[in-house]
Amino acid sequence: MEQVFKLLHRQSEVIWNDENWFEKVEKNDVVIFDKTVWNLFPGKQYFQEEQVYLFQAKEANKTLPELTNFLTWISSKNFSRNDTIWGIGGGVTTDFAGFASSVYKRGCRLKLVPTTLLAMVDAALGGKTALNFDNVKNGIGSFYPAETIFISSSWLETLPKSEFDNGLIEMIKTSLLEKTVLYDNILISNGKVDDTMLMQTALLKMKLCEADPEDKGIRRFLNLGHTFGHVLEAACHYKISHGKCVLKGIKAAVLFSLRTRYITPEIAEKILLPLQQLKLDFVPDEKVDISANLFFQDKKADKEVNLILFNGFQSVFIYQTNKVHLLKEVLEEVLYERL
Ligand code: GLY
Repeated sequence: MEQVFKLLHRQSEVIWNDENWFEKVEKNDVVIFDKTVWNLFPGKQYFQEEQVYLFQAKEANKTLPELTNFLTWISSKNFSRNDTIWGIGGGVTTDFAGFASSVYKRGCRLKLVPTTLLAMVDAALGGKTALNFDNVKNGIGSFYPAETIFISSSWLETLPKSEFDNGLIEMIKTSLLEKTVLYDNILISNGKVDDTMLMQTALLKMKLCEADPEDKGIRRFLNLGHTFGHVLEAACHYKISHGKCVLKGIKAAVLFSLRTRYITPEIAEKILLPLQQLKLDFVPDEKVDISANLFFQDKKADKEVNLILFNGFQSVFIYQTNKVHLLKEVLEEVLYERL
């Protein structure tokens, strides 16, 4: 099954369950492969050695010096802007491949094969590319939708549990944004993700991206749990995974929505049910010191903080506040209690 979306005057096609994506790699294309994925990949013979760029996929390598290495490498090839850069791996690899492809020769073709759940339901979809810069995660980037994204649950079989949970939490987040059967499917899934659920998540995300490709309005709903989540990530010096921080962020958004009387306790319970049922919540091993100033990402304390709150079940809205001490309080409250 495939579906074409229109993002920023480009077509971005999502193809599900095409196990033979590698047959579409052309002689002149280059393939940025996450080294760990490459080592496990059974189809190495389908590529010529000189077209594969092995990328040690970690945040510390999503940088300009690494980009320079890649650009120096690709410049030695006979690669034209009509050829394709492929990115095969998790979100770090798809962000890196996307950014490289958006700048090389002022933009060349881009195809992505996300291999982690997080990349399948979020990073590879919607055209955001990024590098880390000046100690800021995703400090530089571009909007550059991939021409094709190949999604398949077959990659998930070998994914470590912590990686899998990161994606599952983002999937649950998406199921809370608007009326969708994805929420019910997650509840009956027993923590297993199938291709139907991957498709439902992608359709929801791409719908928001199509309506707001440059993240100026309703695409921001996808940031549910992320304002609190980013604060927690920074406060624990990235020792707790992104997904787990977003989970605490969703709980904090629910508690704040409850306190401000946008939702009832019954609705709060229903929203939190998948996180509880799939036993994703946790209590941190160490105490985390949360500074209220972390809510001001650009360090300007006179600015308002944007939050995504609930005003119903599967109904969210953008809320602005500068009362960061209240945000700190709710985050601390949900941090040490397990659902
Ligand atoms: N990761 C959120 C977005 O793509 O907008």
